[in-house]
Amino acid sequence: MRLLPANSIKGQLRLPGDKSISHRAALIAALASNSSEISNFSTARDCASTLSCLRELGISIEDKKGQLFFPGGQILVPPNKPLDCGNSGSTLRILAGVLAGYDLSVELIGDESLSARPMRRIIEPLELMGAKIESFDGKAPLKIQGSSKLTPITYKLPIASAQVKSAILFAGLNANGRTTVIETSQSRDHTERLFNGFGVPVKTNADLSVTLDGPARFTGGSITIPGDVSSAAYFVAAAMLLRESELTIEDVGLNPTRAAFLSVLSSWGGNLSTADLQTDRNEPYGTIKVRGGITENAEDKRVLSRAMIPSLIDELPLLAVVGSQIRGGILIRDAGELRHKESDRLATTAMNLRAMGAEVEEFEDGLAVSGPARLRGARIDAHGDHRIAMAFSIAALIADCETEIEGSECVAISFPEFFGLLESLTVR
Ligand code: S3P
Repeated sequence: MRLLPANSIKGQLRLPGDKSISHRAALIAALASNSSEISNFSTARDCASTLSCLRELGISIEDKKGQLFFPGGQILVPPNKPLDCGNSGSTLRILAGVLAGYDLSVELIGDESLSARPMRRIIEPLELMGAKIESFDGKAPLKIQGSSKLTPITYKLPIASAQVKSAILFAGLNANGRTTVIETSQSRDHTERLFNGFGVPVKTNADLSVTLDGPARFTGGSITIPGDVSSAAYFVAAAMLLRESELTIEDVGLNPTRAAFLSVLSSWGGNLSTADLQTDRNEPYGTIKVRGGITENAEDKRVLSRAMIPSLIDELPLLAVVGSQIRGGILIRDAGELRHKESDRLATTAMNLRAMGAEVEEFEDGLAVSGPARLRGARIDAHGDHRIAMAFSIAALIADCETEIEGSECVAISFPEFFGLLESLTVR
């Protein structure tokens, strides 16, 4: 994909449903006692992986122009081949939690990137609950022998991960007694909100522990998935960086464990606001408005670290791009988890920012990005990582000449409409 510098971003839009919420809503609807209807389901290839795995497990899902219907009271049946989770960590890790609680033997496989990602983080707690999991040195493929008689556990997460927390909570549905997950920093809480929204009480306590009493079953029902706030982030950042911009995004998810980048960008001088806050099944959504330009303020280096990291995790490559335009630059620390995403995002962000002329120091757990830098058009390698391709497409809009994103088709993993929408909003 070749991208030219832009003058501004102008327009009003709605986005396809949030990827994280869509995975969870599909799993809940598949397991619910009554029928369910999901509107604005994500168009991401990752969420299609979750649906195809569920279909292989015998779940009937009717797709009427993006509206999904699930009959109630379905049962999981043994699939006759390994379930392909594609590139999707959420599919593999959360589905492993579901399967841990059924008397089935199932193999989960993924693409090259997913097969290189760490899985001990789910294997350990799910085995403590009574599932048996064979792996390839702690990585996929995973062979799961589940059990409908799991033992509830109290488990302290060694790393902040919503996927691991969710895997344990889904397994807890089929454990007899109280399952408790203790987090050290709050990760995204869609699982907790949707469990409560679909009839399975989950309690979140002040000490960041989450408890669920099993066995429990979802009631089912309807939900409209809010627009994906992580997809919105690219357009929000572009509008902030291009001075003449005016952008409105409606019906977008505003869950505080996901939308933290909005307050970060505001604190860096962005002109952003939110309005029309509503909820569906406990998930907040509303409107984001952005006016272009960065208000100059202090020259101190802005720091993103510690407890802030989990709620910014998917936006950090983009925030590094924006940081290159902030007077004084930015510092990201305590973000070693980025090395275990679809690519090593600390390395791929640093490499591509440098290719565009920014000054970047890379640490084991973060990046220091100097700013403001004049970015030059360059050849960017997406490294098969959708968030790197999209973050550097935004960098391309503020560069001095054409940028080429190699491997840009990977944006379909989370946001197939990205380039089309970006083009329709861009004024040159
Ligand atoms: C996700 C959680 C995060 C995030 C991923 C989606 C989820 O991963 O990076 O894109 O849907 O729970 P971790 O839980 O591994 O941090």
